[in-house]
Amino acid sequence: MKRIKTLYTYMAGQRLNLILSVISVAAATYFMIQIPFVIRFSIDSVIGIQNPDSSRSIVKLLLNLNELEYYKTNLWLLGILIISVTALRGFFLFTKGHYSATASEQIAKNLRERMYKHIQALPYEYHVKAETGDLIQRCTSDVDTIRRFIGSQFVEIGGVFFLIGMIIYSMLSMHVLMTLASIFILPFAGYFSIVFFKRINKIFTKVDEQEGKLSTMIQENLSGVRVVRAFGRQKHELERFNKENDDYSDKVYSLIKEFARFWSSQDLIVLTQTGIMIFVGTVLAVKGQITLGTFVAFATLAGYILWPVRTLGRILSEMSKSFVSVDRIEEVLNTATEYETVGEVLDLDGDIEFKDLSFHYESSDRDILTEINLKIKKGETLAILGPTGAGKSTLVHLLTRFYEPTKGSIQINGHDISGVDKHHLRHHVALILQEPFLFAKSLSENIKIAKLEASEHQIIEAAEVAQIHENIMEFDKGYETLVGEKGVSLSGGQKQRVAIARKLITDAPVLIFDDSLSAVDTETDAAIRARLNAHSSELTTIIISHRIATLSEADHIIVIEDGKITQEGNHESLLNQEGLYKTVWKIQDADALKKIS
Ligand SMILES: Nc1ncnc2c1ncn2[C@@H]1O[C@H](COP(=O)(O)OP(=O)(O)OP(=O)(O)O)[C@@H](O)[C@H]1O
Ligand SMILES: [Mg+2]
Repeated sequence: MKRIKTLYTYMAGQRLNLILSVISVAAATYFMIQIPFVIRFSIDSVIGIQNPDSSRSIVKLLLNLNELEYYKTNLWLLGILIISVTALRGFFLFTKGHYSATASEQIAKNLRERMYKHIQALPYEYHVKAETGDLIQRCTSDVDTIRRFIGSQFVEIGGVFFLIGMIIYSMLSMHVLMTLASIFILPFAGYFSIVFFKRINKIFTKVDEQEGKLSTMIQENLSGVRVVRAFGRQKHELERFNKENDDYSDKVYSLIKEFARFWSSQDLIVLTQTGIMIFVGTVLAVKGQITLGTFVAFATLAGYILWPVRTLGRILSEMSKSFVSVDRIEEVLNTATEYETVGEVLDLDGDIEFKDLSFHYESSDRDILTEINLKIKKGETLAILGPTGAGKSTLVHLLTRFYEPTKGSIQINGHDISGVDKHHLRHHVALILQEPFLFAKSLSENIKIAKLEASEHQIIEAAEVAQIHENIMEFDKGYETLVGEKGVSLSGGQKQRVAIARKLITDAPVLIFDDSLSAVDTETDAAIRARLNAHSSELTTIIISHRIATLSEADHIIVIEDGKITQEGNHESLLNQEGLYKTVWKIQDADALKKIS
């Protein structure tokens, strides 16, 4: 019931179209049902000598228009009438299709739009956990299931019951025993159809799952093609693929077999029913209990009813599929977005302070950061060193409110950031991620993604500071070069520098490099930092790096180990202490010396 309500809310704005389409179905059905009665009238009363059954509205109408005698000499009129009624039915089927397609397409479009907008606003945490493939499926095939449901089954369900009702009513009005002879086995066909489609749905799910497995495997192999080649794993991967592919084939084959069995048993039921009807009809006609026209009318009506009964199961199973899709879509739409609690827009131009901050991820109780106390003055450069997994990225993710601290707080310019609007905060604190992601757009579009109104001059300036301008100019199309599948593939270091340019352009007063210079050589790394310092002395910078050369020039250096700050100072003072900083320095210094000698 709840799902029907939800479906009803999806229909907002398109309800008139849907109502028109339901009316069209009813009209088409009504006209279809008239045909057997025109036939009966023609056979029995116009060609034969029976009294016309004027309780039927269509017969009454015909007799009001002309005398019975007139039709006897102008039989062609009735032929024209049958053609016209059929054409009218066709017209209403067309309007039904038109209105329901318009409505369902618009509903699907709105739904996709709503989902996309909502997904954009979901918290970072949600996206870290969510499977991209699954989310894509919810936005595409689940929405499509609903589109199909509203576009056809929704109208069909009403139509089918209306049709079955009308046919049975029309049959009963002619002859009760004949009615029974024409339909009594059909409920079994309907029942089997429902049972079958319920069962087949399970097989469909298995086929879908297997298809998913197969496409994941293809996708993995395509994106990991270098690894596969480098390790000479082609043969192994091929075997793995063949196994899944065979599995998929088997499942599809069993599906086809099930369908073949179903349709042939349905044919058996339906043909048996037709046989019984013909037998009883012939006997009754010979005995004079029904007229020839009635017999033909029954045969025609029985023909109409077979198809809807046989597909009853399909319609109902599509309905249950669309309910599953409603659930999957609602699950996404009901997840709270991160901007729902709009915070204040405060002046963030000032010092940053971490106060007694502790943090653990929802998935485990283990503290990733414990009792962090740290002050970063405005305009200062803070450098962070620490082993992998120590919690460095987590620390800066807390500063941009990807996550909220479990204990303690972070203040900027004296304001606790938990009350600050996230958009505003992230405009102020620009984080360059450890693994940059570039869109399949031109380089200039990638750079100005956070500031669409940026001028060409600003783009070039940012690229120059990030030491990527010259690289870009080497490409034939310069800044208009496409990135990704259809364009150039950039090296890791080039990508990182484009990502840096992209952040520089926003003019955010706080800039965080989360190991974002790791793929850049030492000289370029130094050049970027020198340009940055010259660019703005107001800029507060946080640099996470494993490279002492990068860290050593910072005003303030901290070492994080296992979620705690274990060392703090500047390059000189840290070299005078035993600890991780000195150890790493010794190793890297020895390496540097080796390279020189
Ligand atoms: N979303 C998450 N859910 C649960 N645990 C996480 C999540 N992200 C990171 N962790 C865990 O938190 C710890 C710290 O991770 P973090 O990414 O902050 O390390 P890091 O210091 O940045 O390491 P690296 O130098 O390798 O980038 C790790 O043990 C990691 O497994
Ligand atoms: Mg990290």
